[in-house]
Amino acid sequence: MENKEILLKVRNAKTYFPIKKGVLKKTVGYVKAVDDINLDVYRGETLGLVGESGCGKSSLGKSILQLVPVTDGSMEYKFEDGYKDLRKLSRAELDNARKKIQIVFQDPNSSLNPAFTIFGSLEDPLIKFGIKDKKERIEKIGKLLEDVNLPRDYMTRYPNEFSGGQRQRIGIARALSVDPELIICDEAVSALDVSIQAQVLKLLNKLKEERQLTYIFITHDLSVVEFLADRIAVMYLGRIVELTTSEELFSNTLHPYTKALLSAIPIADPTKKKKRIPLQGDVPSPANPPSGCTFHPRCPDCAEQCKTERPILEEYIINGVSHFVSCHKVKAELAAKGIKPEASK
Ligand SMILES: Nc1ncnc2c1ncn2[C@@H]1O[C@H](COP(=O)(O)OP(=O)(O)O)[C@@H](O)[C@H]1O
Ligand SMILES: [Mg+2]
Repeated sequence: MENKEILLKVRNAKTYFPIKKGVLKKTVGYVKAVDDINLDVYRGETLGLVGESGCGKSSLGKSILQLVPVTDGSMEYKFEDGYKDLRKLSRAELDNARKKIQIVFQDPNSSLNPAFTIFGSLEDPLIKFGIKDKKERIEKIGKLLEDVNLPRDYMTRYPNEFSGGQRQRIGIARALSVDPELIICDEAVSALDVSIQAQVLKLLNKLKEERQLTYIFITHDLSVVEFLADRIAVMYLGRIVELTTSEELFSNTLHPYTKALLSAIPIADPTKKKKRIPLQGDVPSPANPPSGCTFHPRCPDCAEQCKTERPILEEYIINGVSHFVSCHKVKAELAAKGIKPEASK
């Protein structure tokens, strides 16, 4: 990335969902779905956000859009008149922000009303955002359908007349209808067959070029973002454990969790051997996360320190690029090579 304009600055973001019990609905604990996340999103990049199911990826996406109550931290978005914290916007400002930031979910049905034609579903945001003339809306929706490689006349059809891949294209068209800058794709291709996945990913890439979009691409499947993302953030139990360029992440994987995620990906090239480190057990409950490094009960490299002391996410410059990682063992190994965290310099 040459142009490093920061579009979104997430600082110390926490989203804790209260766990309520009994008739009095007393709060007995919290699900720490997002637990102190720091993240910059650069304009024009595709940032992959990966991790197993339940790691808090969707919660982070929804937190950015203020679709769930955020507990703490800030999320500054760059508007025409400068950075503003999305958490502190007025109702009107938030509506404006939601034009700029759109989300595409795994299940396009959630944004398409089965009782409405495609025109009916896509018209809604256009009316809301001020296109009063129906002819103009028809023209715009026709153009949007063409942009996602569907015939214009599909606008008169109903969602159930389409395949999963076509419905997802329509979901993308709906997101594009308000001319957003940032699109959060939350498992946008995860429900599709592999061949259809490839088509939709290609489409998303084309749209990104044409419209100079920025993507946060959320997926539990690292192989989906390998060729799509400029940078990848790996999330585990509400935290980012590793974040760097895709190239660096795949060629110089540091965190044991990322290594385990990577070893689950099938390799196309049989001449390349890969050491498989299967992930043992399930993701622990974010309501009661393990002490120290939350990955320690599943980590093949776990040492005593890992059980008690929580590693912090620190930035290193490795192979000429920024590489964030939070792991005691990795830190010690890097120190042995003379590589120190940027903050300590
Ligand atoms: N609205 C909610 N209320 C309570 N708990 C939630 C809510 N949404 C998500 N969670 C919990 O937060 C954790 C992270 O979920 P989620 O963000 O959906 O993870 P991912 O998208 O990575 O699969 C899970 O334990 C999930 O059960
Ligand atoms: Mg999710």
